[in-house]
Amino acid sequence: MSRLFWCVVPAAGRGARVGGDIPKQYLPLAGKPLIVHTLERLSAHPLIAGLMIVLGAKDEHWPTVDQLNGKPVLTTIGGAERCDSVLAGLRALLAGVADDDFVLVHDAARPCVRREDISRLIELAVPAGGGLLGAPLRDTLKRANADGRSQATEPRDQRWRAFTPQIFRRAELSAALLAASAAGVTVSDEAMAMERAGFAPLLVEGAEDNIKVTTAADFALAEFLLPRTV
Ligand code: C5P
Repeated sequence: MSRLFWCVVPAAGRGARVGGDIPKQYLPLAGKPLIVHTLERLSAHPLIAGLMIVLGAKDEHWPTVDQLNGKPVLTTIGGAERCDSVLAGLRALLAGVADDDFVLVHDAARPCVRREDISRLIELAVPAGGGLLGAPLRDTLKRANADGRSQATEPRDQRWRAFTPQIFRRAELSAALLAASAAGVTVSDEAMAMERAGFAPLLVEGAEDNIKVTTAADFALAEFLLPRTV
C-alpha cells in the first residue's frame, strides 16, 4: 500500500484523573512529555504523512513541535468533549486530505502503540471501510451496584475493549461525529459515532500493552513498556 495517512491526535483533555495542574499528556515520562513519545512513535511510521494535534484553548504546555521525523506537525484548538476535539482536528486538516481519504485518530495518552499494529490496522481496516484496534475481553465482567457490590455478571463473549488508532474516511467520520453531537450523544470513541451512523467498524486485534496512560501508576507501567513495544 503506497497511500499515506494523516493522524488526528486529540490532546485537549485535562487528565483530571491523574491530579495536579499539568494536563497528563504533558507530564514527564522517561525524560520527555508523554505526548512527545506518542507523536514520535506515530511520525516514525512510514505510512503516516503528518499529525494534526488538537490542543486545549488555554494550553500553556505544548512544546511547539512543528515537525517530527520529517513529517509536518500541525495544531488546532479542540472542544469540551473528546468528540468535539476530533471533529475540530478533522476540519483543520489540509485541503489535500480528500473527503474520501482515510484518517487515523490516536489518543495522545497512548504512547506504547506498536508500529506493527498500526500497519495491521491500516492493512485490514482500510479495505473494510474503517475500523479500530482493540482486544477481546479476557476478564470476567461485573455490573456493580451503588454500594460497590457485584450485582450481576455480564457476558464476555463478543465483548472487546476499544483502543486507538481508529481509522475512518474523513467525511464519513465528520458526519457521524456531527450527527452524534446534534442528537446530544457524547460518543466515547470514533467507532461509536460510526456505529450510530450505521457502519460496522472492523475490530482489529492489537497488543494489550497499547495502554491509555490514565493514572499515576500507568506512568510507571508506560515507562517499562516503551522500550519493549517499539
Ligand atoms: O480523558 P481521556 O483519557 O478519555 O481522553 C482521551 C484523549 O482525548 C486524550 O488524548 C485527551 O487529551 C483527549 N481529549 C480531547 N478533548 C477533550 C477531552 C479529551 O482532545 N475535550
